[in-house]
Amino acid sequence: MQALTVQPKTAESLGVEDVADPRRPPDELLVDGLAIGVCGTDKEIVSGEYGCPPKGRDRLILGHESLGRVAEAPAHSGFREGDLVVGVVRRPDPVPCAACRHGEFDMCRNGRYTERGIKERDGYGSQRWTVETEFAVAIDPALEAVGVLMEPTTVVAKAWEQVHRVGQRGYFDPRRALITGAGPIGLLAALLGIQHGLDTHVLDRVTNGPKPAIVEALGATYHADDIDDVTAKLNPDVIIEATGAAPVVFGAIAGTATCGIVCLTGVSPAGRRLRIDAGSLNRELVLENDAVFGSVNANLRHYRQAAVALASADKDWLASLITRRVPLHRAAEAFTEQPDDVKVIITLDSDR
Ligand code: BGC
Repeated sequence: MQALTVQPKTAESLGVEDVADPRRPPDELLVDGLAIGVCGTDKEIVSGEYGCPPKGRDRLILGHESLGRVAEAPAHSGFREGDLVVGVVRRPDPVPCAACRHGEFDMCRNGRYTERGIKERDGYGSQRWTVETEFAVAIDPALEAVGVLMEPTTVVAKAWEQVHRVGQRGYFDPRRALITGAGPIGLLAALLGIQHGLDTHVLDRVTNGPKPAIVEALGATYHADDIDDVTAKLNPDVIIEATGAAPVVFGAIAGTATCGIVCLTGVSPAGRRLRIDAGSLNRELVLENDAVFGSVNANLRHYRQAAVALASADKDWLASLITRRVPLHRAAEAFTEQPDDVKVIITLDSDR
């Protein structure tokens, strides 16, 4: 079968190659891959900045945003041939640390977790793959065209869950949310903001292309002004930061309402320097009881939350996020950004 592979930490090593068909261990599912999504992490791996192959190997099968159809399932597993499934990205560390032992591998304490398609485990970018039944999540058959959005939705489901948990440190009745960045993470975070009943705003740089209309179609408000102007106007209770761009990150931290919460989800490149007034920033955080925290990955609870969020979202709106579908044999094209890209996916079934 064909798989999308890369040699981590080596630029220009991406390729589609023939690999052996997977053999299904007795307690796992055998899955026909339908699609994988491409995100910033995949681009970092492909450009040689991130990722780690399985032990004893040079190459890694890429792909952590998955969607597939069950080809074979163990008896009494709760899965059946034909089910649509998504594979969980992270696996607990082998120690395991206290968080992993409690099912919170997204909060792993010792960093020895593994991640499919990212860190020491092959991903889902192959025509067939296997997955442990306890790390497979069934999704609504009606979501076939958009189910590949599940993994990024788990990331924002976790972010929102954590916002609410942080909010519970005191009286919490958020009214207005600002999402910075109208990429897939930002747009899905906005979807959840709307589903939570918040007056939701999205800030991005672009003024053309599909993003403004996607935001408006959701019932949120689009902005393309300077972060400081937007926060001054909106005074948001919650900001979900999804750009990783340093000026936006610090603008967000400084720009919430009193008792505001900022959740950082964007990964920035290292080595960028920015002059900030650290004293004023600290003063504001203290005197306003503000909270700023980072959030990454997702555990099974967040997969369940994401499944509910996707099932209750408008399917056409979700489909509007997928702006390009590239077949596996032309996968390299998915990594060359085009102006109107929002979410680009690689289809795995079109070459069969
Ligand atoms: C994935 C997460 C993962 C993170 C760091 C993100 O793109 O969505 O599941 O934990 O990268 O590797």
